[in-house]
Amino acid sequence: MSVNWALPFEERIVPEGAHNLVDIETYHKLHRLSVENYKEYWASIAKELPWFKPWEKTLDDSNPPFYKWFVGGELNACYICVDRHAKSWRKNKVAIIWEGEPWENEKAREIRKITYGELFREVNRVAYLLKSYGLKKGDVIGIYLPMIPELPIFMLAASRLGVAFSVVFSGFSADALAERMNDAEAKLLVTADGGWRNGKVVPLKQIADEALSKCKTIKNVIVVRRTKEDVNMAQGRDEFFDKLMESVPQNVYVEPERVKSEDTLYVLYTSGTTGKPKGQVHDVGGYLTLLHATMKDVFDIQDTDVYWCTADIGWVTGHSYIVYGPLMEGATTLMYEGSLTYPEPDRWVSIIERHGVNIFYTSPTAIRGWMRFGEEWVKKHDVSSIRLIHSVGEPINPEAFRWLFKLLGREKVPFGSTWWMTETGGILISHTPGKYLVPLKPGTNGPPIFGVDADVFDDNGKPQKPEERGYLVIKKPWPGMPLTIFKDPERYKQVYWSRFQGVFYAGDYAVKDRDGYFWILGRADEVIKVAGHRLGTYELESALIQHKAVAEAAVVGVPDELKGEVPVAFVILKQGYTPSEELRKELNLWVRERVGPIASLKNVYFVSKLPKTRSAKIMRRVVQAVVVGKPVGDVTTLEDGASVEEVKRAYLELQKEVQG
Ligand code: WTA
Repeated sequence: MSVNWALPFEERIVPEGAHNLVDIETYHKLHRLSVENYKEYWASIAKELPWFKPWEKTLDDSNPPFYKWFVGGELNACYICVDRHAKSWRKNKVAIIWEGEPWENEKAREIRKITYGELFREVNRVAYLLKSYGLKKGDVIGIYLPMIPELPIFMLAASRLGVAFSVVFSGFSADALAERMNDAEAKLLVTADGGWRNGKVVPLKQIADEALSKCKTIKNVIVVRRTKEDVNMAQGRDEFFDKLMESVPQNVYVEPERVKSEDTLYVLYTSGTTGKPKGQVHDVGGYLTLLHATMKDVFDIQDTDVYWCTADIGWVTGHSYIVYGPLMEGATTLMYEGSLTYPEPDRWVSIIERHGVNIFYTSPTAIRGWMRFGEEWVKKHDVSSIRLIHSVGEPINPEAFRWLFKLLGREKVPFGSTWWMTETGGILISHTPGKYLVPLKPGTNGPPIFGVDADVFDDNGKPQKPEERGYLVIKKPWPGMPLTIFKDPERYKQVYWSRFQGVFYAGDYAVKDRDGYFWILGRADEVIKVAGHRLGTYELESALIQHKAVAEAAVVGVPDELKGEVPVAFVILKQGYTPSEELRKELNLWVRERVGPIASLKNVYFVSKLPKTRSAKIMRRVVQAVVVGKPVGDVTTLEDGASVEEVKRAYLELQKEVQG
């Protein structure tokens, strides 16, 4: 909901290191061609993948919005990411560089380099293990792991068998895990004894046990030993991974399943505007095609590169741009376990220096966090290997852009802010959108990539005038789009395809400037981005009303200097409870326990009444405007189903309560 209104901001930067620079008019001409012939364009990209069987129809659009890409084609994601490289000159090339978090004493330092040959062996062995549980195409497994190599290995092994996986971010709580696993009807869960974060152990198995007591479908649990803590093991259900692997032969080969292009690769849950997280279902053929296009065009990936994306694999960015994207290109992908500023603020730069990172993909929140510690930490290190930088997850403020551009980019490295979302599967808007670089404008996202028809609509579904705020839409199907919401096709239609007829509604506010650059300004719905992580305010509200003292609750996002946006809660207490500092703390803790540590409330306001429309909907914009201190005039016309007078009155009443 927060909108960082940065326009007009017309600074243009042409980095010295720019190759393939095109002026924006030329780019738009080429782009238009790719959009007019989008099926042919995407087919030309998909042809570069090794299909077991070529497709018959590029796009089945007979039943919109349930589009199917490359129908009739057969392939296997694990084969594409692993086998074809392991059976080539890349066999001894490093596929994954992994660095563990503990670093204080030299004995605890761990770095693993896994070659494509080794990855091939491990993935086959794990696929063999999964198969021994009777898992087969059509099944779903859950993965709740920290950032350790077993995470991508299990993902790849599952896709080798055509088994879909659903990864749950290891910072999520037991309730969040249980809810997702139940919805996905997962049969098996892979977890770990614990994970390292900021020098502390996160007791993952303990959290998983709590979740498992509420999971109906999970019959088996595989536990990877990472922190070597003592954990409870349920007999007949839980087994240690290392123990299980003892009986798996060293050099087994498991034939990669020939899956259909439109089969499910994974289900990943996103927070929505209603209580239940939505399981985004991604296909194999379309998804890999988009990743291939963007790894080549947006990241310009080369065989000599060390590529590092700082996201967690528990989110879509890690799925697409730590695991499947880089590995399908045979690249070297770096994966770091823990906090980027542990044990010292320069951990991230020391990783860049030690591993010679060339391409760096990070987030505005991370950058703002580093800025706090000052430039000196960056200057201690040689970062000359960096040749390309991108950011993702939230709008990038020009200050953060300039800081990293100067210190890491030495004012000559191309640095863009790529827009996309869990739903889109991969990057759709970028400054390096198609083997080309367009001049950078700090704070913008650039034009859409080739083949993607993005636009900004006004409230009535008409293209918005340049430099006016509207809603971001995608007007043509693109490979990588969701197949549906898991088990809920109606909701898929309703959430994304009903706001404006026949186009995909992203839920973001956006502006298109006169150069055709997009400025994504933030969510237009009840989703907030806390440190770049997506949270539904409704999830926090439902956690709050489960507390015995709470009668009603409203949560809104407010701007935060470090995290971009943070949630604040408005709470009406039940009879017999009185506001207090303790209760405030208790409620915060309560929400963190139910949703996860990222759901930390910045503030809890106790109020006697919440502003509502006549149809009993909470006037969220009023609530938000009051906390942010926006004038009431800015909201009066924005609230559906309420008159200007009602909004004004509600605003003033709430303001009085908050200030009093
Ligand atoms: C926001 C993350 C501005 C946006 C890949 C979107 C961005 C939501 C950017 C999706 C960016 C992502 N500039 N905003 N470069 N990238 N967003 O599903 O609001 O976690 O709708 O996917 O993040 O978040 P999700």
